[in-house]
Amino acid sequence: MPIKDIVPIADLKDIVFGGWDIFPENAYQAAVYAEVLKAKDLESIRTELENITPMKAAFDHNYAKRLNGTFIKDTQTRWDMVEQLRADIRNFKEQNQCDRIVVLWAASTEIFIAPSAEHQSLQALEKAMKENNTAVIPPSMCYAYAAIAEGCPFIMGAPNLCVDIPAIWEFSEKMNVPIAGKDFKSGQTLMKTVLAPMFKTRMLGVSGWFSTNILGNRDGEVLDQPENFKTKEVSKLSVIEQIFEPEKYPQLYGNLYHKVRINYYPPRRDNKEAWDNIDIFGWMGYPMEIKVNFLCRDSILAAPIALDLVLFSDLAARAGMKGIQTWLSFFCKSPMHDNEHQPVHDLFQQWRMLKQTIREMVGEKEPSYLD
Ligand SMILES: NC(=O)c1ccc[n+]([C@@H]2O[C@H](COP(=O)([O-])OP(=O)(O)OC[C@H]3O[C@@H](n4cnc5c(N)ncnc54)[C@H](O)[C@@H]3O)[C@@H](O)[C@H]2O)c1
Repeated sequence: MPIKDIVPIADLKDIVFGGWDIFPENAYQAAVYAEVLKAKDLESIRTELENITPMKAAFDHNYAKRLNGTFIKDTQTRWDMVEQLRADIRNFKEQNQCDRIVVLWAASTEIFIAPSAEHQSLQALEKAMKENNTAVIPPSMCYAYAAIAEGCPFIMGAPNLCVDIPAIWEFSEKMNVPIAGKDFKSGQTLMKTVLAPMFKTRMLGVSGWFSTNILGNRDGEVLDQPENFKTKEVSKLSVIEQIFEPEKYPQLYGNLYHKVRINYYPPRRDNKEAWDNIDIFGWMGYPMEIKVNFLCRDSILAAPIALDLVLFSDLAARAGMKGIQTWLSFFCKSPMHDNEHQPVHDLFQQWRMLKQTIREMVGEKEPSYLD
C-alpha cells in the first residue's frame, strides 16, 4: 500500500513553501539560473514560483567563503540571529495561515567544525550564542535552534555539524520536536550502501574503494573550498566501515583503502558524474574489479528526498515523536545517532526501520515471515 494510505501524510496542495537565501532572486529566477528543469516544466508554474521570494539569510562568509551574497540579515550576535529567524518563522506562519511549520536546511555545506564543549549542553550552547562565539556556532545552528524554539521539526540536508550535537538533542527532546539528518543520500552514497551490503552478504572481500565525482553547480563550487569539502568528505567516508564491520571480518575488510574526491567542473552544471572503482576479492583471494559510472542529476535525485523528509518529520511531530528520528536514516548519508548508538547505513536495513516505524504508528506488528 502507498504509505499515504496507511498514515495521514500532509497533502501537497495544503503546503506553502518559503525560505531564506543570501540572494534576493525569487524561486523562478533561481530555478532558471540553476538550469535543472527545462523551460517547459518551469513555465506552467512560473507565477507560483515568482511568488516565492526569499527572506534575508542568516549568513557568515567564514562558513562559505566561495559565496558572496548580498541579501543578508544585519545581526550583532548569534543570539540576535536566532531571534530574527524566530520572528521570520512566526511571521511566515501567520501570513500564510499555516497550522504547522517544518524547517529544512538545503543551503550550502558549511566548513568543517568539530564538536566542542559549547555543543555539549543546551546551557553551554545558549551561552556561546549570547557571547557571539562565532567560531563554534555556524549559522545553520541558529536556524536549527530557531526552528526548535518555535516548535518546528528541523532537518539537516547538508553534512553540517548543526543538529548533530548533544545540546540540540537535549533541546529537541525538551521542546518535543523531531530532528533528522544529515546529508541527503542521493547518488554515489546511495549506490554504495546498496553494493556494500551485497558484498558483505556474499562474504566478498574488498581491498579498495575509490570514489570520485565531477559536478559544476553552486554546491560543487562551495565544496571546491578545502574546509567545506572536509565536511562532505567525512560524511561520504563514514558509510562503508559500519556496513563491513572490519573488526569482525578482518580478512575481508580489515585492509580496505577508501578514498573520496569531488572535483568542481563547471561545464556539467547540475549533472554530476560519479565514478567508483571497487577492488574486490573472492574465493582464495582472487581479485576482481567493479566500475560504477553514475551519470546523475543531483537535484532531481535530492528534491524528492527533501520533500519526503519534510512530510515524514511533520508526521512524526503529529505522532508525538521527538528528538533524533533514526527511522529517517533511509534518506541520509550520515544518519544522526546519539552517543549510545551506531548509525545504520545499509539501505535495506534503513528501509526496514522506516516501515517498522510506520507499522508502529498504526499499531501493526511486523509480519513473522521474512519480508
Ligand atoms: N544531490 C544533492 O543535491 C545533494 C545531496 C546531498 C546533500 N546535498 C546538500 O544540499 C545542500 C544544497 O545543495 P544544492 O545543490 O541545492 O546547492 P545550491 O548551492 O544550489 O543551493 C544552496 C543555496 O543555499 C544558499 N545559502 C547558502 N548559505 C545560506 C545561508 N546561510 N542561509 C540561507 N541560504 C544560504 C545559497 O545561496 C544557495 O542558493 C548542499 O549543502 C549540498 O551539499 C545535496
